[in-house]
Amino acid sequence: MTKTTACHGGLTITTWWFWWCTAALVPFVIGMATCLKDVFIEVPIAIREGTTAILRCDYDLEQEALYTVKWYKGRREFFRYVPKELPHTRVFPLATINVDVSESGPNQVVLRQVTPELDGKYRCEVSADAPTFHTQIVAAWMHVVRTMDGKPELHLEKPQYSLGEKLRANCSSPLSNPPANITWFINDKELGNGRIIRIPSVRPSGQLFKTVSSIEYDVLIAGKLKVKCQSDIYHVIWSETEVMLDEDKPRLASILQPHDHSAGLTSSPSFSIILLITCVIIR
Ligand SMILES: *[C@@H]1O[C@H](CO)[C@@H](O)[C@H](O)[C@H]1NC(C)=O
Ligand SMILES: *[C@@H]1O[C@H](CO)[C@@H](O)[C@H](O)[C@H]1NC(C)=O
Repeated sequence: MTKTTACHGGLTITTWWFWWCTAALVPFVIGMATCLKDVFIEVPIAIREGTTAILRCDYDLEQEALYTVKWYKGRREFFRYVPKELPHTRVFPLATINVDVSESGPNQVVLRQVTPELDGKYRCEVSADAPTFHTQIVAAWMHVVRTMDGKPELHLEKPQYSLGEKLRANCSSPLSNPPANITWFINDKELGNGRIIRIPSVRPSGQLFKTVSSIEYDVLIAGKLKVKCQSDIYHVIWSETEVMLDEDKPRLASILQPHDHSAGLTSSPSFSIILLITCVIIR
């Protein structure tokens, strides 16, 4: 969020006739003493392709009247709100932008079905009416993310570890553009991003990436081991997979079936354990 304030400063008057002018201008000067301030822009930092984006612009006009609110993507204006005109709103065509006019007004513009082309910098320009025409501009970035549904795939080299052994694991994110970041946790302690490779994958809709991360971890504590891999895009779109390992024998833990030991993990190949508790949270 960005904020600006720029009211006029004081006047410096040196000669008598300037004083006279000032007296004549008193109403005008008082008018300027209160002005447009506290202009804020709020746009989604990251949003999924195909969804609806609400871009907000808030401001305090104090005693002034609103003249216009203009919205730009980059240098191109795409929406204008003018309370003195009918209709109050005007939309300027701009590649793939789909303004929902019925939901857009003095403080927001609503974009339907956002496309990756709409990734970029947005500006809101607010102008007060005559005589001051105070104008302020605030800007913010919106990233449009293309991502496949799903959760990261977590692979462990072995299903069980004893003290002093080295745990090796890798994790791959769901396909996305931009590529996701991966963060590792063991027993809820953050381990960092691991060794990362990004694998491009060309789809009819465009290029996507899979992030694959691997870690090595010295098992120095006895007892259960909770290994978690989190895939994250701008801290807004994320999902995670976690596996709970016993020191002696492996066991799958699940929020839904916490006591279900029948899903024979012990009989599965020892080099790979995939997936467990997962949740996809989008906000
Ligand atoms: C991930 O780990 C599994 C099991 O250890 C291994 O078979 C696979 O090759 C690894 N994949 C990558 C991309 O490192
Ligand atoms: C991944 O992490 C880097 C470093 O923190 C950050 O600059 C970048 O924006 C992140 N990418 C995504 C898609 O979240």
